[in-house]
Amino acid sequence: MDIQFQPATTEAQIARIATLAREIWYEYYVALIGRAQVDYMVARFQSASAMLEQLGEGHCYFTIESDSPGATEVGQPLGYFAIQPQPSVGKLFISKLYVRQSGRGRGTGRRTLEFIERRARAWALEGLWLTVNKGNPSIAAYRRWGFRVTEAIVMDIGGGFVMDDYRMEKAIEASLQP
Ligand SMILES: CC(C)(COP(=O)(O)OP(=O)(O)OC[C@H]1O[C@@H](n2cnc3c(N)ncnc32)[C@H](O)[C@@H]1OP(=O)(O)O)[C@@H](O)C(=O)NCCC(=O)NCCS
Repeated sequence: MDIQFQPATTEAQIARIATLAREIWYEYYVALIGRAQVDYMVARFQSASAMLEQLGEGHCYFTIESDSPGATEVGQPLGYFAIQPQPSVGKLFISKLYVRQSGRGRGTGRRTLEFIERRARAWALEGLWLTVNKGNPSIAAYRRWGFRVTEAIVMDIGGGFVMDDYRMEKAIEASLQP
């Protein structure tokens, strides 16, 4: 399957991600963290206005697109991700990485991570990091891709909610060309 990564910089592109984010978050995270926390996190972090604010803080959003017939509904992205280069510490923060349910388990996540690693190398960064809910089965995918848990983090996000996460890190593979 052929996939491309499309930077999202305009209000229309970000609004498209907000629609996809709602779909994925309600489908995947209610079982993990409960509906009330999903309501709160979607509104606080994944609304179009919140994401536009994040662009101003150095986060770069991308959609994962496929033009293969049948890969997903016509014109709909396969997923999305956001990355934030942090040159002062030599790292790239993967702040979002979501593939819609119908596209999971077919190598899209792995190819997206390879794209992110090439970006990190092009920016002369040496490592990747992310946070993931302690109960999220996707931890297994990150381990397969070479990430290791470096810390447990409990973060107060307001509204009476906490994010109960692991921090995971991976060194950039020197063999990947920018
Ligand atoms: C995690 C996610 C981005 C991975 O993307 P994907 O396209 O499904 O992943 P891939 O098909 O590239 O598979 C990745 C690898 O991990 C393995 N894997 C994927 N999900 C797994 C799971 N739940 N348990 C065990 N292994 C898993 C696959 O076997 C595969 O191994 P390989 O690359 O050696 O063949 C995607 O499943 C997703 O969006 N999940 C829901 C939201 C989420 O948890 N996002 C991460 C937030 S921190």
